[in-house]
Amino acid sequence: MMQIGIIGSGAMGSGIAQVASTAGHPVILYDVSAEALEKSRSSLEKIMNRLIEKGRITADESQALQQRITYTRELPDMKGAGLVIEAIIEDLDIKKKVFSELESLVDQETILASNTSSLPIAAIAAACRHPERVIGIHFFNPAPLMKLVEIIPAVQTSQDVLNNAQKLIDAWGKVTVIAKDTPGFIVNRVARPFYGESLRILEEGKADVATIDWALTELGGFRMGPFTLMDYIGHDVNYTVTETVFEAFFYDPRYKPSFTQKRLAQAGYLGRKSGRGFYHYGDDAKKPSPVEDEILGQAIVDRVVTMLINEAADALFLNIASRDHIDLAMTKGVNYPKGLLRWADEIGITTCVERMDDLYEEYREDRYRCSPLLRRMAREGSSFYS
Ligand SMILES: NC(=O)c1ccc[n+]([C@@H]2O[C@H](COP(=O)([O-])OP(=O)(O)OC[C@H]3O[C@@H](n4cnc5c(N)ncnc54)[C@H](O)[C@@H]3O)[C@@H](O)[C@H]2O)c1
Repeated sequence: MMQIGIIGSGAMGSGIAQVASTAGHPVILYDVSAEALEKSRSSLEKIMNRLIEKGRITADESQALQQRITYTRELPDMKGAGLVIEAIIEDLDIKKKVFSELESLVDQETILASNTSSLPIAAIAAACRHPERVIGIHFFNPAPLMKLVEIIPAVQTSQDVLNNAQKLIDAWGKVTVIAKDTPGFIVNRVARPFYGESLRILEEGKADVATIDWALTELGGFRMGPFTLMDYIGHDVNYTVTETVFEAFFYDPRYKPSFTQKRLAQAGYLGRKSGRGFYHYGDDAKKPSPVEDEILGQAIVDRVVTMLINEAADALFLNIASRDHIDLAMTKGVNYPKGLLRWADEIGITTCVERMDDLYEEYREDRYRCSPLLRRMAREGSSFYS
């Protein structure tokens, strides 16, 4: 079995190591911090013990799985790896340094991958003498549970490296989608309005957080409301992703971050992890009740879902990914109740265009421009799936 190298034993690196070892690979897990390595080892042991208790794995399997992982602080131990996945701090200069050092240690055939969420793969690849071996392999958190993996070839990546990387990750039981090397890839780009438009509705005073969350879960079918989800992700993390995507898109107003969320992050009200975000957490915290007004609720769902559909349609229009991959990414990566392009067909393309044009008429902001693809399809009377 091919040896897999993982650089960085934080939340993502540890999860990816578990996935690779579950698939039977020997894994070398490297980190600069001895503490991070020890934390990774002991948290895997806890996860395995829980799986044994639940009867999902035998004690022998658990032991074998843990023994396949070697923990190291020596980068040269990556020498025999056929694939190395980097999951260290999100900093381009540091990543470039690691890639360049790594390349001098491994075989010529070794694929070098980054799990970055927001940095351009092309810029990381440029640190290598053979950039054609570099690719993005983007897992979601927690890696062992989330099915989706985005595969991102850079302009430099060879077709063989793309094919081999995708084949391998498919063999690990993941659902792979191929995305262009553009900000946010598929999921972190297409999902922006779920947060951004909900924050906008809140800021306009149209509804409070509990009502918007109620509408999108109860009427919209989303597993978690946007404010509950932002509190869960953490406002530091979620705000930074939004700001990074906004800057990377040359300040396209469609991705403009929200002051409300920025202030929460600045105040240290980071969400669940700090006991307070949009909601209060803790034993005596009372959850506010939503205003269960179906007409208001449906208007909220229509606005947020239409903005999501517009974003998905524009991603297809700009060839960021195929129709099927865009829909798979949102159902498998962030558990949306339906693929957004399928949802567009159900609502009707003409209705989606009318809703976008109504928003644009009201606000006169570029944020609400309708994707040319939706407009063309409405004119032709076509749909995404027929
Ligand atoms: N957390 C998420 O939800 C998520 C999801 C997808 C992708 N990512 C991406 O995965 C990467 C890692 O994220 P994370 O959440 O696991 O971070 P983390 O902070 O949990 O872990 C990062 C680890 O990298 C180690 N590290 C830092 N610099 C290093 C170096 N020079 N060499 C070796 N190890 C080094 C740290 O000691 C730490 O253990 C980032 O690029 C991030 O954008 C994160």
